[in-house]
Amino acid sequence: SGNNAASSSDLFAVSSPNVVYTDSEILSKYTYRTTSVTKNGAGKYVATPKETVYDFKVDRKIPKVGVMLVGWGGNNGTTVTAGIIANRRGLVWETKEGPRAANYYGSVIMGSTMKLGTDPQTMKEVNIPFHDVLPMVHPNDLVIGGWDISSMNLSDAMDRAAVLEPTLKMQVKKEMAQMVPLPSIYYPDFIAANQEDRADNVIPGSKASTAHVEKLRQDIRDFKAQNNLDKVIVQWTANTERYADIIPGVNDTAENLLKAIEQGHEEVSPSTVFAVACILEKTPFINGSPQNTFVPGAVELAEQHGAFIGGDDFKSGQTKMKSALVDFLISAGIKLTSIASYNHLGNNDGKNLSSQRQFRSKEISKSNVVDDMVEANSVLYAPGEHPDHTVVIKYMPAVGDNKRALDEYYAEIFLGGHQTISIFNVCEDSLLASPLIIDLVLVAEMMTRIQWKQASQSDYKGFHSVLSILSYMLKAPLTPPGTPVVNALAKQRGALTNIFRACVGLEPESDMTLEHKLF
Ligand code: NAI
Repeated sequence: SGNNAASSSDLFAVSSPNVVYTDSEILSKYTYRTTSVTKNGAGKYVATPKETVYDFKVDRKIPKVGVMLVGWGGNNGTTVTAGIIANRRGLVWETKEGPRAANYYGSVIMGSTMKLGTDPQTMKEVNIPFHDVLPMVHPNDLVIGGWDISSMNLSDAMDRAAVLEPTLKMQVKKEMAQMVPLPSIYYPDFIAANQEDRADNVIPGSKASTAHVEKLRQDIRDFKAQNNLDKVIVQWTANTERYADIIPGVNDTAENLLKAIEQGHEEVSPSTVFAVACILEKTPFINGSPQNTFVPGAVELAEQHGAFIGGDDFKSGQTKMKSALVDFLISAGIKLTSIASYNHLGNNDGKNLSSQRQFRSKEISKSNVVDDMVEANSVLYAPGEHPDHTVVIKYMPAVGDNKRALDEYYAEIFLGGHQTISIFNVCEDSLLASPLIIDLVLVAEMMTRIQWKQASQSDYKGFHSVLSILSYMLKAPLTPPGTPVVNALAKQRGALTNIFRACVGLEPESDMTLEHKLF
């Protein structure tokens, strides 16, 4: 399944002179309306409505897609693999609370809906599954593979992860026992020393090399050929690495980065070597961990090759709540003055993060998530003023994958009063991250089939290499150089929703509902 053209149009079609459906494409003419703001001589803002007409072209043929995970044998890798198999086979398993069936809860693409419009007769909203807005790949059709420095087969690795119910594991064991990660590159200095005993599946060489890049490229090509795939998406869900130092002449430009790899410079991380291999293969690469995989040279290389990259760090639990809650508080005009975030977790991620340099990567990605919201509100915050924000993570083996996140939000309200909000969030971390891994794949894949041009241009081209549309799923969104980072969850979802709508020639969802107010 999954190879037939034009599945999305089964549910709806857009009736508009600006939208044309062909057997292979959806063509839309879309007027993008923005407001340009300048300051005049008297220091007063001048806001000018602006219109840009874009042509969008969506390839309707749903390709056969493979996903290769770096860190496939980890908690996320095994959980997402078992989850896709369970969904594909429609599995049901017994739990102490009764039978449970496979689902894609937690995936914005598979589990949420989008308002298509309003029925004029009933005045009611018509909502459709997000997955049906554009002709997207179904996750059940994904072929999964990948690399790990641990040679354990996926069934044993799933047991090691201790995330899923035994009654579910029993049903996927046989299939997963056949899955064995490819050997990976391991440069011990980049992850915690406590990970060393896992590393029994490594490609020789402990620093970056052209041979490593070539080996990974070959792995991608082999996987594609063996499974008859049209395309592959690669995602880093391996251990959090320490930050790489940005060194002029080493990783600051594309040319220098390639030279540094050739010369085996020790400041080039495994994740950057993966990124480079994928960019050269024109395979989208997404970084689900917090480290600075995308050094400036890697971003430049992606731009040169028109290859898609996205990152960093899955936004699953605590930070997702934060990017919704802080957006709410500051948008409500409440002056947030401090955020204290504590975590403890007992999985291998927690063990790796108990090492200072790896924790530091996580601390950075967790800390910057409120900046845009604070900066946008000059009523509450003076220039440069910022709420206090601290992030603590502790390794507590007993709780396993059931991560605890405790957050206190402290705010100043009317006339010097205070509001304190305490949140205690308990979740299986990998069950939150796995649907995000799926969303990142589905959206990144979709973006490879969307092209645009301005009316005056003759040739279509793709979006910018840095896929900031993936921000909703990521803690520290990577954006094209020089463009702002948006952390606010609602805005991120708005971007995803409205870009998809534009591709089928629909106006952004403004929530004005004038049709219910003016009659
Ligand atoms: P894990 O520790 O269970 O899995 C990581 C896997 O990567 C391990 O199997 C390890 O052997 C492998 N690995 C390490 N270095 C490698 C390399 N160079 N090449 C190939 N494989 C390598 O961790 P988990 O829980 O699956 O998380 C994965 C990553 O996702 C971590 O960096 C974590 O910080 C990040 N993340 C997880 C979230 C969640 O909710 N689970 C949320 C945000 C980020």
